[in-house]
Amino acid sequence: WPRTARRVEGALQVGGVDVRDLAREFGTPLYVVDEEDVRQRAREYAGAFADGSVHYAGKAFLCGALVRWLAEEGLGLDVCSGGELALALAADFPAEKITLHGNNKSVDELVMALEAGVGHIVVDSFEEIARLGYHAERLGVRPKVMIRVTTGVEAHTHEFIATAHDDQKFGLSRNSGAALEAARRVLALPSLELVGLHSHIGSQIFETDGFEVAAHRVAELLVAIRDEHGVVLPELDLGGGFGIAYLAGDDPIDAKLIADNMRRIVAKECGSYGLPVPRLTVEPGRAIIGPGGVTLYEVGTIKDVEGIRTYVSVDGGMSDNLRTALYGAEYTAGLVSRASEAGPMLSRLVGKHCESGDIVVRDLWLPEDIAPGDLVAVAATGAYCRSMASNYNYVTRPAVVAVRDGAARVIVRRETVDDLLRLDAEVGES
Ligand code: LLP
Repeated sequence: WPRTARRVEGALQVGGVDVRDLAREFGTPLYVVDEEDVRQRAREYAGAFADGSVHYAGKAFLCGALVRWLAEEGLGLDVCSGGELALALAADFPAEKITLHGNNKSVDELVMALEAGVGHIVVDSFEEIARLGYHAERLGVRPKVMIRVTTGVEAHTHEFIATAHDDQKFGLSRNSGAALEAARRVLALPSLELVGLHSHIGSQIFETDGFEVAAHRVAELLVAIRDEHGVVLPELDLGGGFGIAYLAGDDPIDAKLIADNMRRIVAKECGSYGLPVPRLTVEPGRAIIGPGGVTLYEVGTIKDVEGIRTYVSVDGGMSDNLRTALYGAEYTAGLVSRASEAGPMLSRLVGKHCESGDIVVRDLWLPEDIAPGDLVAVAATGAYCRSMASNYNYVTRPAVVAVRDGAARVIVRRETVDDLLRLDAEVGES
């Protein structure tokens, strides 16, 4: 739950605001963001990596208010589409602190980034290197470029796999020599400035051993580039993926520990090859925005199925949180609008969509007296919920409300059916 979450006479308060008041004023489903929680986590990462950079990964969730909080807390920003870039620029985020990612950036996206003067562009293919070089020269600019390296390390939560092959769409393979060839090609283009290598090994990671292997492998590449071209690259971006607690047993590592471990790993690897220690960048998304978000739903129907379990239906579902259906993600959730003395009942929290896989929380214990009109909250939904929301079944995407010091304000307004109808070429207004 968010850091400011409290129970007051049985009802949950976040940022000093009672969730019943939030539901009444803004409706449900509702994404609630604890501004203090998010700012604190951003500050902790910025402090831990004070000698490097922290770029928040916008894919986790992005809106104008958040962009401004991040700027105030001293973070940079990663974007992976023209849309994310447009939002960041519209919120006056400093372009030089933005990195553009993506395995298939369009020419329009590349040109937009070049014209805005973004700080870094992470190149992901040979075609892109040529395209970027051409457009940079045409526009008379010289962007800082990093090469996304596939290190063959894949990390998932508690484990990592260091494979010899790297069968995935991202990056340029270290094993096949593609990464080294990419360095050759970037260095051959006078309109591009090669400043470093980039590696991202996965998401929701709780250990640093995967980063260790990745750092070792990129350090080898830094050496190969130095030996071949006499160029010492000054920057290294080790990506994001730092895990958060979704369930009571999850034990994430904190920002300071991650920073200390990474610094040690990079210093050791570079030191052993006689390389100066590059400036380190990390790209946490989930670890900054995830824990501070909760989703508030109203219970609509309750169905006891053959004494096996009870299906508790809420007014949202896979359109506002796809993660359970897509990844089998697990969440902590509970009744938040009142106290209950009733015994626990094995429940499945489901949505309102026309699909049996529309599950929000697969198994949870809710009180036996749960009833229509009760509010249920799902914890740690700040990341990859609103940003992956859809209009499936012509459902409108919920509002996002920020709470802080007893006050609430809408930071992304609720979509209306009119918003959706407007896009319809037949019945929408022209
Ligand atoms: N940097 C790069 C290059 C990435 O690809 C990602 C995530 C991040 C940073 C941020 O990772 P984070 O710190 O948020 O784990 N939709 C999935 C997660 C996809 C992550 C994709 N890349 C989910 O809901 O779990």
